[in-house]
Amino acid sequence: MSGDLKWNKILGAGLATAFVILLVREGTAMVFHTEPPAKMGFFVDAPEEAEAGTPAPVLPPDWGTVLPTADLAAGEAAFAKCMACHDAHQGGADKIGPNLYGVLGGPVMHRAGFAYSDAMATHKAEAPTWGYDQLDQFLTNPGRYVPGTKMSFAGIRDQQTRVNLIAWLRTQGSTGTAIPAPDPSRQPGAAATPDEGAAEAGAEAATGEAPIDGASPAAQSTTQATPAAPSASTSSGTSPR
Ligand code: HEC
Repeated sequence: MSGDLKWNKILGAGLATAFVILLVREGTAMVFHTEPPAKMGFFVDAPEEAEAGTPAPVLPPDWGTVLPTADLAAGEAAFAKCMACHDAHQGGADKIGPNLYGVLGGPVMHRAGFAYSDAMATHKAEAPTWGYDQLDQFLTNPGRYVPGTKMSFAGIRDQQTRVNLIAWLRTQGSTGTAIPAPDPSRQPGAAATPDEGAAEAGAEAATGEAPIDGASPAAQSTTQATPAAPSASTSSGTSPR
């Protein structure tokens, strides 16, 4: 009988321990509860991204607006990340990756002599051209945009850095690739839901509140919150995300 009791105690102690471990784990999970990221990926330069003040990180850049004001010097500096594998000069050799002169606006797999991956060939069948959006998505996360690509590069998370880099790449043999007209629905003051956006912006403007800083959308919208703004936005060419 006493032997049974002993084993009961041991068993009880074991169960209690397991229970405490569970409690602690659940407890810490509750205390250190983390929100799942809205966008999966590596947040290497996430703080930088937050500071960059990009209004809608979900949307692709409005190239007609961002390219004319892009920082070409910063773009060339960003290309340092690529130089281990790429040359962008006219007539430059292929390295680990293909020469990139004229790649923007050119065909995917634009270098005849380069041994591209099957993954890139598959991608080419779906999206044959390196347009601004395609290049932007590829450089954001190469392995996600072209699964299985042999470009082993984590990607550039900061949108402005990609914009600068793409603007600079354009100067490397791709100036013939036109900069599209700015999308009216993407101007400050126009919102994703144009009708409400314009109305809201108008309301904000009407309150006459002092803007917090010169760059606040409300400040810029005062001049643009005309009811005419939404008309063109629904027919715009922005790809849905
Ligand atoms: C570690 C080496 C490496 C780095 C770093 C790298 N790339 Fe690449 N890149 C490659 C390889 C390899 C390919 C070919 C991919 C394939 O065939 O799947 C490639 C392909 C490309 C292509 C497609 C070219 C075509 O002809 O279709 C572009 C555009 C490109 N890289 C741009 C960049 C840019 C811009 C950077 C810097 C931000 C960069 N790469 C960084 C190795 C690299």
